Amino acid sequence: MAGNARLCALDDIPDGGAKGFDAGTCGLAEDLIVLRRGRDAFAYVNRCPHQGTPLETFPDRFLDQTGELLICSTHGARFRVRDGFCVKGPCEGASLQAVAIAVEDGDVFVSR
Ligand code: FES
Repeated sequence: MAGNARLCALDDIPDGGAKGFDAGTCGLAEDLIVLRRGRDAFAYVNRCPHQGTPLETFPDRFLDQTGELLICSTHGARFRVRDGFCVKGPCEGASLQAVAIAVEDGDVFVSR
């Protein structure tokens, strides 16, 4: 993908898991969360629509105990993995800001 940056290998993200990317380290405009489901990957800006905090307290810990939803560690809002929609919590009905990414030849790319 011309003009895009390689974030990581898809296999660097556990299937069913999530990984955080620091803007400063990765040369991105904002911190990102990338989630993997099989050969698919989904990315969001790491900023809760409720009060604008990063979602995680501990590195790469973005999912609730079910592993099915993202959780904000500040007030517990829950978000769907595939579209970032908040299904529960103080910002119910809002969404995480999606970021376009692509998986090509086993690598994950994002626009800078
Ligand atoms: S800042 Fe995320 S739920 Fe309040």
